[in-house]
Amino acid sequence: MKDDVVICRCEDVTYGEIVRAIESGLTTTEELKRVLRCGMGPCQGRTCSRLIARIIAEKTGRDIEEVAYPVVRPPTRPTEIGILAGDDEK
Ligand code: FES
Repeated sequence: MKDDVVICRCEDVTYGEIVRAIESGLTTTEELKRVLRCGMGPCQGRTCSRLIARIIAEKTGRDIEEVAYPVVRPPTRPTEIGILAGDDEK
């Protein structure tokens, strides 16, 4: 795969960035998420997590089943933007 192929479309993280991070010693999806932000976009990794796990498995020689997926922390409930902006009259 070419280095400029985008793996995480939400955060614009490329295959090359992920491979370089793995080569520098980051070998879990959580570590890559914290450093590169891949998996932290609007889809919360639904699109990219499996691809990232596959790249980790391929580059580290591990079985993909050994590569854990990152923890997903969705909002506990939807919040209106007005409340976040300080409009709390509702
Ligand atoms: S594609 Fe990676 S978080 Fe959406």
